[in-house]
Amino acid sequence: MKIPLSTDPPIPEPRELRRMVCGDHQNLREQITAVVELLDTEHVEGHGDAYARARPMLERFAKQLFAHMALEDTYMVPLLQEDFAWGEMRARGVLAHHAEQRRTLNRLVDRLHRAGEAREGLVEDFRSFLTELELDMGEEERALLGPEVLGDSIVHVEAGA
Ligand SMILES: [Fe+2]
Ligand SMILES: [Fe+2]
Repeated sequence: MKIPLSTDPPIPEPRELRRMVCGDHQNLREQITAVVELLDTEHVEGHGDAYARARPMLERFAKQLFAHMALEDTYMVPLLQEDFAWGEMRARGVLAHHAEQRRTLNRLVDRLHRAGEAREGLVEDFRSFLTELELDMGEEERALLGPEVLGDSIVHVEAGA
């Protein structure tokens, strides 16, 4: 995990962090839709045109996903850790999952750059990675970004209580 330096910008408020993470997710989802459309075309037509167009998109996508995971590691993980009961477990889960996603994504990008890689297998592997990532983003939003988890739930105190 990256230890925040004193020169780092302050950790955003939970509400702001939620906006940043969900904004990234939305952007990544739109790219997934566009790239999967191209990979589907390639699957049907198979002459490489769609694949050639998908390659730079996948490279760009990978860079953004690495940056997104760095954002979550730097800002979401410390906020999760503030929860006394479950914080450490949730934080460790996120970091381990990101490590796994980085390994898979690095391997896919390596294959993307390697000449002679069987296109069919790579397209399929990329598609499954993207499908899993979409599920994963939904799960993060449900399980980690709620006010009760990020620690900004508003406690209403009844008047006169
Ligand atoms: Fe994540
Ligand atoms: Fe995420």
